[in-house]
Amino acid sequence: MALWGGRFSQAADQRFKHFNDSLRFDYRLAEQDIIGSIGWSKALVTVNILTADEQKRLEQALNELLTSVRNDPQQIIASDAEDIHSWVEQKLIEKVGDLGKKLHTGRSRNDQVATDLKLWCKEEIALLIQTIEHFQLKLVNTAQQYQNAVMPGYTHLQRAQPVTFAHWCLAYYEMLVRDKSRLTDTLDRLNVSPLGSGALAGTAYAIDRDLLAQYLGFKTATNNSLDSVSDRDHVLELLSNASIGMNHLSRFAEDLIIYNSGESNFVELSDRVTSGSSLMPQKKNPDALELIRGKSGRVLGALTGAMMTFKGLPLAYNKDMQEDKEGLFDALDTWHECLDMASLVLDDIKINYDVCLAAAKQGYSNATELADYLVAKGVPFREAHHIVGEAVVGAIAKQKALEELTIDELKSFSSVIESDVYSILSIESCLNKRCAKGGVSPLQIAEQIKKAKNSLKDS
Ligand code: ARG
Repeated sequence: MALWGGRFSQAADQRFKHFNDSLRFDYRLAEQDIIGSIGWSKALVTVNILTADEQKRLEQALNELLTSVRNDPQQIIASDAEDIHSWVEQKLIEKVGDLGKKLHTGRSRNDQVATDLKLWCKEEIALLIQTIEHFQLKLVNTAQQYQNAVMPGYTHLQRAQPVTFAHWCLAYYEMLVRDKSRLTDTLDRLNVSPLGSGALAGTAYAIDRDLLAQYLGFKTATNNSLDSVSDRDHVLELLSNASIGMNHLSRFAEDLIIYNSGESNFVELSDRVTSGSSLMPQKKNPDALELIRGKSGRVLGALTGAMMTFKGLPLAYNKDMQEDKEGLFDALDTWHECLDMASLVLDDIKINYDVCLAAAKQGYSNATELADYLVAKGVPFREAHHIVGEAVVGAIAKQKALEELTIDELKSFSSVIESDVYSILSIESCLNKRCAKGGVSPLQIAEQIKKAKNSLKDS
């Protein structure tokens, strides 16, 4: 039976009921709804709506229900209750009879759903942080394993300067540090309880809402009841966090797809995360990575969808707000899944050291070193840049690398060049020189790996 039958003389059209009901997706809030209800039952004792004994009976029944939904969450969707709040109330009444009907005193589904969803978001944030850290650890371990794997670094997808595979891994590690901190910022803002805001104007019972908030694990209670029942900023923030996080994963995927292509052949992906073609027997496609890249679109779609849904809503609660959940659940599930998949891809990725190194040597990626060499010999940088540009053109014409030019050939571009130039043109020198914080020098990378490991250990 619906929670609101008294005012109605006709049953809802079945098609409307299906359209309106949210149980098929908000069943995921079952645990939070039960825990919020236990909190509310305690608050009702303080305003003499429930006796201590009645509260105890309610709490016991709610705890039984909690165990039951934990063991078998699927039982919920079999019901034709309108939403998770109705389902919990219905089950409670089945267990304790009329006493169950007292629980909703002074409460509305509007403050209830706002509370449930915030409690759910808090748990989800903790789980997401764990999944992010798991991937971060994979990145750091892979960095450690491939500290010596030199490969080209790119700008404009043109070979620019040599880097190492470790340096590349640690770049993604840093992005995930920010993803994590965005989640903790969001948590800090959402950590205020809307319970006791009633339908919109506040509850008519003198409940200590701050105490209730603390019981539920919130920092404190919200300040304004109109805002409390209409606020879904945390949904928008989490969707935004997820979109940015998925952007990072999408770039990670795109890089590896390029590195795995026949044109690059820098890495080889494991059979465990690739699939074949039904027609072309030779194919091994990077599907895991392509799906990560593809799914970033749908997560951003959930964010833009929610922004559009919320932008025109008058205060306070409107049924449009029920649309907050499916997109949020889907986006965060997708984020989790893609983080896991990205970890799996790194599990047994193989780096083709020689191919990477050969590519790093091509493309005149040591041209900047030659310019710096000229600067050290007193040539102004702008002039040095021009000279090296000419040297590159000359080397291309001879189909040679810069370090393959003879000393006389090099001298033809600038008389200050001596034979000590060859050592600075080596890959090792290119890497070693970049030893300022954040640079690619092996010493820096080792330092960054150590710091990353420590910070993962501490968290
Ligand atoms: N299923 C609803 C939602 O998710 C719960 C709140 C319903 N409140 C109401 N006044 N109809 O938003």
